[in-house]
Amino acid sequence: MRGGLSRTVAVLSAAGLLAVSACGNSDDGGSGDSAASKDVTVFTWWADGGEKAGLDGLVSTFGTECKDFKFVNSAVAGGAGANAKQVLANDLSSGNPPSTFQAHAGAELGDYIKAGQVDDVSGLYKEFGLDKAFPQSLIDNLTVDGKIYSIPANVHRANVVWANPAVLKKANIDGTTAPATVDAWIADMDKLKAAGVKAPLAISKGFAQEMLVEAVLLAELGADKFTGLWKNETDWAGADVTAALDKYKKLLSYTNSDREAIDWPDALGYVNKGQAGYTLMGDWVAAQQLADKVPDSAYTYWPAPGTAGNFQYLADSFTQPTGGKNPDGAKCWLKVVGSAEGQKAFNTKKGSIPARSDAQPSDYPKYQQAAMADWAKDKIVPSCAHGAACSLGQNNDILSAISQFSGSQDVAKLQSALGAAMKTS
Ligand code: GAL
Repeated sequence: MRGGLSRTVAVLSAAGLLAVSACGNSDDGGSGDSAASKDVTVFTWWADGGEKAGLDGLVSTFGTECKDFKFVNSAVAGGAGANAKQVLANDLSSGNPPSTFQAHAGAELGDYIKAGQVDDVSGLYKEFGLDKAFPQSLIDNLTVDGKIYSIPANVHRANVVWANPAVLKKANIDGTTAPATVDAWIADMDKLKAAGVKAPLAISKGFAQEMLVEAVLLAELGADKFTGLWKNETDWAGADVTAALDKYKKLLSYTNSDREAIDWPDALGYVNKGQAGYTLMGDWVAAQQLADKVPDSAYTYWPAPGTAGNFQYLADSFTQPTGGKNPDGAKCWLKVVGSAEGQKAFNTKKGSIPARSDAQPSDYPKYQQAAMADWAKDKIVPSCAHGAACSLGQNNDILSAISQFSGSQDVAKLQSALGAAMKTS
């Protein structure tokens, strides 16, 4: 799978289809040495829509706070880093790291730490006063052997369903309340089908399907057993996992037939256009709706059925790569990422909530205000698809099993492949 993906990425990059053009604060063209020494290459997958709007927020604060440097956008398009992660791996292994790159707090960051690809930035925590600004639990997720390897920009929620109330109304379903269980959700999908909605649940390829698997496992197993799956403390071969995967299979039967060909904004588009009732996706959707000017009244959201009271989290953070270009410029970027102004400029546009504890909810759109309240009171569980619970290798194996299942529909095979993936490092 890795070979196939890297080949695709290589072809697309050669055709200039993946890389987003550089844009900066100065017009020196970036050719001479002095121009190059100002360049801060920032690697993300936030290339379009609400994600790009969030990045633009950080870039604008960087423009004010880091006047000696020039932002160079090294974004590679594709939801959840589907293309970016492979490009980054190639750049890091060939000794060509950017000035800074996006990585998820948790196991995924651990991969870069183990590979010796990121530097300890704990000194910056002291220098910028960040040791007091972030919750200790998040700092713990970024720390290995007493060293801290990145600065968190946000906290996103994964277990959210986004619904179109006008579509649900066709089947007399009240869009304001979540079905209490996965079974109740399935019953609503049957009503929608009977009302003429062919594919009630819009879904896209790869990580979106992984997120749906996770949401069903969380609903059916509960928070503690769910979290145990990623630590191999819950038995992947258990009958409760089989029953949950059977429900996942049933849910897939309500989805669009082009699911292997589209990315998450397209699935959201099906909901917004009234072709589907629901999509399950992280709360970067809130940013996309904002960027697309979809009015609040046109959509509703709730925790995935059966998962209310659980906040499945992931956090984006930025690193200082070992041997990265322009470490002083990277330091200024990291200062912006951790600052109150930077986090506000980013998160008000990104659908996420600030990682800092000192933000004012009233500065944020309605969605984030609700998310902040849930973050404070809910049980926190990690996301595998977005690196909090799983390493990059485990996640690749899981993605491959899930994409095979999309065709084979073989639950036993999926279940054993998921268990096997979590036995690797
Ligand atoms: C996640 C990332 C989010 C968002 C999402 C969809 O992995 O943490 O910030 O970008 O992918 O692309």
